[in-house]
Amino acid sequence: MNNSHLLTIDSLSYDNVMTLLHQSQKILDNKEHLFPQTRPLKDKIIVNLFLEPSTRTRVSFEIAAKRLGGEVINITGDNSSLKKGESLLDTLYTLEALGASQVVIRHSENNILGLISKENVGVRLINAGDGSHEHPTQALLDMLAIRQIKKDIAALKIVIVGDVLRSRVANSHLALFKKLGVKEICCVAPEEFMPSLPEGITSTTSLKQGLENADVIIVLRIQHERILQSSTVDLHHYQKHFCLTQENLSFAKSDAVVLHPGPMNRGIEISSEVADGPRSLIRHQVTCGVAMRMAILRAPISP
Ligand code: NCD
Repeated sequence: MNNSHLLTIDSLSYDNVMTLLHQSQKILDNKEHLFPQTRPLKDKIIVNLFLEPSTRTRVSFEIAAKRLGGEVINITGDNSSLKKGESLLDTLYTLEALGASQVVIRHSENNILGLISKENVGVRLINAGDGSHEHPTQALLDMLAIRQIKKDIAALKIVIVGDVLRSRVANSHLALFKKLGVKEICCVAPEEFMPSLPEGITSTTSLKQGLENADVIIVLRIQHERILQSSTVDLHHYQKHFCLTQENLSFAKSDAVVLHPGPMNRGIEISSEVADGPRSLIRHQVTCGVAMRMAILRAPISP
């Protein structure tokens, strides 16, 4: 049994998280680490198995693995035998027999990796997003980006705005921020986008109220692909009350920073002025993604 999988934030200890943050920070600080002399993944095969669309997550895992000297194979739903009915487990057994050592998986089913990991799979599994369940590497890289600017994580008020109910990113954020002892975590969303939240996390339907005293604002996309066809979303209403604009950014602290995991729908959940403005860490998040994924691929961590 391979127990070094990275499936959820809670599969990592506090120390595991701090080690990943520390290592990825070193990679960011010292650019030659991006092209290490020692290639820890030399002769290793890393498979990107993406069964849902992705740009930055897939590409950053590929760049990270290549910078560590690994060979990368990309498989999407359209070009794999999963299309012919093969189970995910059989696909993983096949990849193992072909010599893969780590498989980065994106899948539309909630917690499918948790189920698969109970089987005797000899490859390391890394969750790159499973349904609306978790996306742990995104939360970790977001924390890396936040720590560049805000040193005392425990003193922060972090606000998450958007489709919290269906966002795997938000689930991983909440677990990570709690683990790191963030002082105040507040979710802002219309009632129909708000799940029942873990203890200690506050919520409001008022963007103005939520943003008060915020140090960090994370904006999320409406997960249209996970909304039942029978329900409708009033985009005009959403945009009017929940879009992060320059005007309502002024409700937050004057040095608050803004993040978005992407892809962004400009003008719906965030204005271009904010997304491209001086308080935005959005492009820096993408850079942090490569460093964090290098740290993750390089150092399989046992929980
Ligand atoms: C997110 C995802 O796929 O969960 N994107 C990403 O990985 N950067 C967020 C989203 O799709 O809204």
